[in-house]
Amino acid sequence: METKKTYRIAVIPGDGTGPEVVREAMKVLEAAAAREGFGVEPEHYDLGGDRYLKTGEILPDSVLEELKGADSILLGAIGHPDVKPGILEKGLLLQLRFSLDQYVNLRPVVLYPGVETPLKDKKPEDIDFVVVRENSEGLYAGAGGFLRKGTPHEVAVQESINTRHGVERCLRYAFEYCRKRDRERKLTLCGKTNVLTFAFDLWERAFYEVAEDYPDIRTDYAHVDAICMWMVKNPEWFDVIVTDNMFGDVITDLGAMIQGGMGIAAGGNLNPQGVSMFEPIGGSAPKYTGKNLINPLAAIASMQMMLEHLGEEAAAGRVERAIRAVVRDRIKDMGAGRMGHTTSEVGDMVADLVGKDG
Ligand code: IPM
Ligand code: MN
Repeated sequence: METKKTYRIAVIPGDGTGPEVVREAMKVLEAAAAREGFGVEPEHYDLGGDRYLKTGEILPDSVLEELKGADSILLGAIGHPDVKPGILEKGLLLQLRFSLDQYVNLRPVVLYPGVETPLKDKKPEDIDFVVVRENSEGLYAGAGGFLRKGTPHEVAVQESINTRHGVERCLRYAFEYCRKRDRERKLTLCGKTNVLTFAFDLWERAFYEVAEDYPDIRTDYAHVDAICMWMVKNPEWFDVIVTDNMFGDVITDLGAMIQGGMGIAAGGNLNPQGVSMFEPIGGSAPKYTGKNLINPLAAIASMQMMLEHLGEEAAAGRVERAIRAVVRDRIKDMGAGRMGHTTSEVGDMVADLVGKDG
């Protein structure tokens, strides 16, 4: 008898509405696993603001070591209203991304049929692209510091670190991804070569050098400010966008809005050779915590990306079809409290369809 494949999934519900959305994503994962005949062994970790406030611990080394042994990580949200901004974000979320060397942050921007976009006259066929955000360096590397802090002469320096190695591995991932996606086969570099003449000089040179290995991919370049403009005016121009950490952070919030809101925006922090971590783009939404009102679809769609990453394509396909059916037929508005259904009802609907679907 063939032994059933079982995945060890580290689950970090985190702060705010994180636990509520992760619960639904796990519900759908269990349904998909049952349907496709693989196993899931979840291990929960209580990392986040509450643990920090209670014990002072953010990410103990022993936990990090355990996480390295997981097949994948599913994360809800990080950010607590009683913890000073930056402590959990840097100490936990960025620390996880960096320690696990998740050097790509993959963020699809897809308008599903039935979902409303604030962009007038744009349809699902117009909004379907993916942002490949460099996830291990740039302004996020934490390089810099203060001089004479707190005095009238204080200086604050925050440097963007761009290594040829870091940039190139991200670019190569983007070219490969664009080829695999096989849609327009067009990769756009988003930068700011007219002002950031060191960082994006390196990016641009590396981009066109790597492009030589991908003659089947059309290359394009746009400055980040122009990208913002076109994401609103002509989102149909984009297939795959590759960019640095900071610009990727900013343009994917814009991307989330044009695809219908944070309630549906998914993402994955990828280490193609190691342990990856999947998380919805939206934050911990403290205002909605514990109310069963938050939209779990972003977390469910992130879990779908996890299935794809694990090679469970059939299960991922089931989850995607179920999400599409639910937004087409059952949910009017993606916003928290405006879905016409509770968080758990939405999770149930998706899980139910995943279980039933042919
Ligand atoms: C995101 C978030 C994080 C980031 C914050 C919480 C550190 O905004 O995942 O986009 O800036 O990367
Ligand atoms: Mn962000």
